Amino acid sequence: MSSPPGPIHFFQIVNETSLQNGELRIRRSFVSEHWQGISSPVLLVLPNGSEWKMDWEKRDADVCFVQGWKEFAEFYSLEKEQVLMFKYEGKSRFNVIILGRSGLEREYPLLNGTLEAEGSGNSKRPNSPLRKKRRTNTEEEARFNEYSHNARPRDRDGRRIFLKSEASNNVEAPKHAESSSALERARAFSSKNLWFYRRMRPAYINNYLLFRAEDYVTQEERKENEFLSLWVTDESRPWHAKISKHDNNGQIMLTTGWKQFVRDNNLKLNDVCVFEKTRNSEGLSFRVIIYRATQESTNIPSQDYKRRGRASKWTEDQFTIALKQSQTKRSAHIPYGFAKKYLQKAKALTLQIGNRIWEIKLDYYPRHSYARLSSGWDKFVKDCNLKEADECTFQLIDRENFVFDPVSIEVWNPNGKYRVVSTKPMPGTRWINLLIQQDCRVEICTQKKTILSVEDIIQLIGDKCDGVIGQLTEDWGEELFKALSRAGGKAFSNMAVGYNNVDVNVATKYGVAVGNTPGVLTETTAELAASLTLAAARRIVEADEFMRAGLYDGWLPHLFVGNLLKGQTVGVIGAGRIGSAYARMMVEGFKMNLIYFDLYQSTRLEKFVTAYGEFLKANGEKPVTWKRASSMDEVLQQADIISLHPVLDKTTYHLVNKERLSKMKKEAILINCSRGPVIDEAALVDHLRENPMFRVGLDVFEDEPYMKPGLSEMKNAIVVPHIASASKWTREGMATLAALNVLGKIKGYPVWFDANRVEPFLNENAPPPAASPSIVNAKALGLPVSKL
Ligand code: GLV
Repeated sequence: MSSPPGPIHFFQIVNETSLQNGELRIRRSFVSEHWQGISSPVLLVLPNGSEWKMDWEKRDADVCFVQGWKEFAEFYSLEKEQVLMFKYEGKSRFNVIILGRSGLEREYPLLNGTLEAEGSGNSKRPNSPLRKKRRTNTEEEARFNEYSHNARPRDRDGRRIFLKSEASNNVEAPKHAESSSALERARAFSSKNLWFYRRMRPAYINNYLLFRAEDYVTQEERKENEFLSLWVTDESRPWHAKISKHDNNGQIMLTTGWKQFVRDNNLKLNDVCVFEKTRNSEGLSFRVIIYRATQESTNIPSQDYKRRGRASKWTEDQFTIALKQSQTKRSAHIPYGFAKKYLQKAKALTLQIGNRIWEIKLDYYPRHSYARLSSGWDKFVKDCNLKEADECTFQLIDRENFVFDPVSIEVWNPNGKYRVVSTKPMPGTRWINLLIQQDCRVEICTQKKTILSVEDIIQLIGDKCDGVIGQLTEDWGEELFKALSRAGGKAFSNMAVGYNNVDVNVATKYGVAVGNTPGVLTETTAELAASLTLAAARRIVEADEFMRAGLYDGWLPHLFVGNLLKGQTVGVIGAGRIGSAYARMMVEGFKMNLIYFDLYQSTRLEKFVTAYGEFLKANGEKPVTWKRASSMDEVLQQADIISLHPVLDKTTYHLVNKERLSKMKKEAILINCSRGPVIDEAALVDHLRENPMFRVGLDVFEDEPYMKPGLSEMKNAIVVPHIASASKWTREGMATLAALNVLGKIKGYPVWFDANRVEPFLNENAPPPAASPSIVNAKALGLPVSKL
């Protein structure tokens, strides 16, 4: 007598007719041999645990899935030429996997039950309607069970089944949904022996390991062995784990002894273990190779750090989805509980960021306790540049019309102890690494909204937040410091040297340290001031526009005649770090004389100009000179170029007004890379209009991001969008300093003894000092100062 046949596989290509007519014809060879005894409806079970009842009807010699097929096809957005692999399990029940056109398995939406079961970390499963009947534990396992290395589907005669499109290299190790170097390293494992891998999930770490026995442990072996031995490379002794039957589907659990193995080998979430079956006199043995998720280069934050520590969630009025790779494509499931409460009547959702709007179709399937965003989602993902592992929070702002305000967050090191929020993505990766190496969970707001409102930032701060890195465009006052302090936050840093957007007294009142980023943008900012000076003096922008407009038809003596700098006087208002650097550049580079105004004498600058003058003289050239003016007006009257470098406060607001403009030479050039309100911009527009030979170079504006009416039309104005500190080195350094300001306070480090000497923090080849580089209210808070 022959033994009963094992599960039978067949495949079915989705064709246009099946999609149009809402019927799927089943492969005739399967029908003629095996259909007898199959009742209607049949049950299709997918790897994500979802089950679909499908009625079938006879059509002459054929059998077709009818009722249920259309909904199924729609739900999985099936397209022609995709392939369904069926595995007949008996009793009218089929396991089904879906292959895309490339022959690779498709992503399945994770259903609620699946998510809860995975995230629970507890062997007691939640009461999901899907739970009882679920055949496989997770998406990964299902894929694994069906397609793992040595357990590929076979036909009835034991031959491997290959689909035509599967002839590509990818078949043996289908690409996993989530990119992970631990996973990649594990997948690169190869052996003649049977092997499989498991990525450590909460349930595996806390309870048991599940795997599909029939492919790796024979019936006989199971009868003979109550335990199996696990040998870790380099260890001379094995661990023993009890084999327990999991369900009727050939899965087994490793129970007693498994947790000891996890503990002794320090297995952590997302580590990947390869289990290789070995021949061993000790009975049933597997060699275990552990691929650690966190053993990554320290320069680039590892993707593993980005892996989700948690699933999607919802609370009153908002839901959050932690994006899996599959959700960055055509659709994204959303927490069903939220959909049930607020969206039962919704056909579509409106996502609104500022003036931009995205309409996104909602698919709501109460029968499967499932809801997802579909048509339009891919556009939103693309427009907002969302990536796997980002988090998106959707705040319901209009319940009647289902309008949401979405906030997207990129998360690093989800299990970090301290929560640090950055209101913007910042250049470089070192700052992220420094934070995650010190046990911080880093959340970066990737919202496509340039300036976040106070409400946006309160939402980001949430209930628990240890520190925030913010931007000069944000209004850090009573509301924000109150929210931060309520969330347990102790530190805020501007990613800027200027902090006129921060109410430092209020921060001090709430015990919050305020950091800034001096010492790293001095030269970069001075270089932009110098660039604007040259561009204005030589009318570079006007000339460029002229060329591009095709107006140049030959050299002319009068074409774009501008100002020579050599031998002229450069005036600096505010000769601090940046003002002095600019002065040196103009003096040394263009042999200009200096006049400056500052409340403090800049001895170093004076000495520099003196020494340079002597050098020139010694070389037979006219020496440069310097003068410290006794009033600002003296500078305005005498200088040919005037660059403004004061801090913005009440005393410097509209420092350059109508009256002062009128004191300047008619052909003077005015540069501002400090803060916009230092100039009365409306008065400046009038002055530019009335004095066409007067020129201005502006990096900052009174009402950023706007310009006062008329300014953009003035040919004698050069305007750039607040980019003075925008060199790569500086911006990465600013991000580092801001992160270290916050980190230092969180860790209780002292404050660095000199905020102008921050080089040790910027050296990428050494760990930074254990200090906050620059905390402006250190004294008021009584913070200790580093002795280093
Ligand atoms: C830029 O404007 C800064 O203050 O850092």
